[in-house]
Amino acid sequence: MCGIIGYVGQATSSRPLEVARQALARLQYRGYDSAGIVVANQEGLSFVKRAGKLSALEEALAESPLPAASAAIGHTRWATHGGPTDQNAHPHLSQDGSVAVVHNGILENHQALRDELVEAGVEFQSQTDTEVAAHLLARAYQELGDLPDAMRATARRLEGAFTLLAVAQDNPHLVVGARRTSPLVVGLGEGENFLGSDVAAFVACTDQALELGQDQVVTITPDAVAVTDFGGNAIEPRRFTIDWDASAAVKGGFETFMDKEIHDQPDAVRDTLLGRMTPSGQMQLDELRVDEALLRSVDKIVVIACGTAAYAGHVAKYAIEHWCRIPVEVELAHEFRYRDPVVTAKTLVVAISQSGETMDTIMAIRHAREQGAKVVAVVNTMGSTIARESDAALYTHAGPEVAVASTKAFLAQITATYLLGLYLGQLRGTMFPDEIRAILSELEKMPDRIRQVIEGEDVIRQLAVQMKDATSVLFLGRHVGYPVAMEGALKLKELAYIHAEGFAAGELKHGPIALIDEGQPVFVVVPSPRGRDILHDKVLSNIQEVRARGARTLVVAEEGDNAVREFAEQIFWVPQAPTLLAPLVAVVPLQIFACALASAKGLDVDQPRNLAKSVTVE
Ligand code: AGP
Repeated sequence: MCGIIGYVGQATSSRPLEVARQALARLQYRGYDSAGIVVANQEGLSFVKRAGKLSALEEALAESPLPAASAAIGHTRWATHGGPTDQNAHPHLSQDGSVAVVHNGILENHQALRDELVEAGVEFQSQTDTEVAAHLLARAYQELGDLPDAMRATARRLEGAFTLLAVAQDNPHLVVGARRTSPLVVGLGEGENFLGSDVAAFVACTDQALELGQDQVVTITPDAVAVTDFGGNAIEPRRFTIDWDASAAVKGGFETFMDKEIHDQPDAVRDTLLGRMTPSGQMQLDELRVDEALLRSVDKIVVIACGTAAYAGHVAKYAIEHWCRIPVEVELAHEFRYRDPVVTAKTLVVAISQSGETMDTIMAIRHAREQGAKVVAVVNTMGSTIARESDAALYTHAGPEVAVASTKAFLAQITATYLLGLYLGQLRGTMFPDEIRAILSELEKMPDRIRQVIEGEDVIRQLAVQMKDATSVLFLGRHVGYPVAMEGALKLKELAYIHAEGFAAGELKHGPIALIDEGQPVFVVVPSPRGRDILHDKVLSNIQEVRARGARTLVVAEEGDNAVREFAEQIFWVPQAPTLLAPLVAVVPLQIFACALASAKGLDVDQPRNLAKSVTVE
C-alpha cells in the first residue's frame, strides 16, 4: 500500500512540486519507508528520491532543488519487493530516461518480465517489481509514439494489483495512469488536474473527482481528462464531490484509523496472497530463502511473538500441525528466551511481528539463532530489524497499520502463516497438490467473506453502544476459535479498558464458570457445524452451561447454524468457511465490537492509553 500523486498544470512553475510534496505529506499513512518526486518540463525529467521518511526526501530536495515544471508524479512507499533503499525508492526511470513511473501494488509476473527484459539487454537498477513497468513502458512508448497507448499496451502485460502513474521526458503536459485493483482517483481542477491513490492526495486543491474502475487508463492534461479501458475504448467515469476534509480524507472518510484498517482487511488478505501461488496452484514463496533440505528436515516449529501476533501464531499452530504433521509450539517471545527452551538446528523458528521492531521478539530471535535454529520472520515492515535479523522474511502485505490495536496485520499474519504451512506441506509431501489447490482456492474467497462480515457491522455497533458500561466480558472459543477468543478479549482490554478474558471453552468447568453471574456478557466463537461436529456440539453445551447461570450469550456463528439460535441472546453470523480458515472471519465481529465500544465511551481508539504501536523496549 503506497501513496501516489500525479499533477499536471498549464504554467511551468513550482506548483507541481508543491502539490506533490503536500500530497505525500498527507499520504504518509499509506507508506513511509521511502519517497520520491519526478517533475517534467521542456528540458525533460528531473527527480529526487530517498529512503526513509518524508523528512529525508525534504532534506534531499533542499540539497538538490527540482526545477520549475508543469507536471509531477510523487510516491511514498510501503516496500513489498526490495528493501527500503534509495535505489528501490520510486520513481523508477526507464534505461533511456524517457519515462518515469510510480507504482502501488504487486506485479505478480514481475520476475518473468524482468528475465525477458534482461535477456533483451536491459540493466536493472533496483530490486523492485515496479522497475519492470518503467522499462516495458519506455519500449512500448518508443514503438507506439503515444504515452496512453504505451500505457495500455504495458498494462495488458501486467498481472497482479497495480496503480501506475507515468510521465515522459518529451511531453511535460501529460500524466498517464493505469489501475487494476489498486486504488486511483482523479481530481478535477481549473487549468490543472490531479491523480491520487485516494482523495487525500488532492482534497486540499479540489473537491471535484472522478471515480476510476477496474482495468482502466486515465490521461490528464491541464484542461482534459480521458479515460479508456485497457483496449482503448472510451469510458465516461462517474463524477463525485468530495465531502471530506483533509483530516477525514487521510482516514479514508472513517472516524478512526482502526475503523479504516478493519475495512482494509479484505485487501490485506488479498494482497498477502498475491504472487504466492503459480497459475497451476503450486505454492511459491520466493522470499523464503531457507534451504529446502533443511525445511524438509525440520522436526519442530516454534512460533515466537507477542500480543495479537502471538494469537496469529496460535491459529497457525492448528493449521500447520494438521497440514504438515510437524509439532508447533507457540511461545510468548518474552517467556521463550528465559525458559531455556529446547532449540536445535532442526527447529524452525517463526517470528511474527507487524512492526518488526518488538524488542522482546528481537531478543528471542537472537537467542534462537544462538541455539542454531533457522528463523523465518512473518513481518509487515520491510527492512525492519526482525526482517533483517532473520534468515528469511515472509512479508505480510497489509500496508502500514497506524492504529495501535492491530487488525488487518492480524489477518495478514494468519494468511501468511497459512501460506507457510501450505508451502511446507507441499515441500515435505504431507499434502497432495489437489489438497493445496483446494485450500488456496478457499483462501482466495476469504477477502469477500471478510467483506461480507464488515457489511453487517451496524448490528455489532449497536450492541457495543448498549454495552458501553460493561465492566467485564468473557470470550470463549474452542480449537481455532480459542485464539480468536483471546484476540477478542485483548481488543476489548486495549481499546475500551474493560477487563476481558479469553479462554478455551473446555476450560470453563475447571474454574472460570465461577465467574458467571446474572447478566455476565459472554462472547462465544462457535466452530462450523460442517467441520468436526463434536467440536460444535461441545461448544453448544458450553453456551448452555453459561446461559443456565444467567450469562448474556453473544455468539459468533456460521451462517445456517440454526442450532445456536435457542441459546444465543445475539448472533453475529459469519460466512461459511473451512474450519481452519474460519478465524479470518470469526474475529471481525469482535474487532468491530471493541472499536465501537471504545468510541461509544469517547476513548482514543487509535492511540489507547499506556500503549505504543511498537514496543521497542523489553
Ligand atoms: C495488538 O493490538 C497490540 N498492539 C499488541 O499486542 C501487538 O500485537 C504486539 O505488541 C506485537 O507487536 P508486533 O506485531 O509489532 O510485534
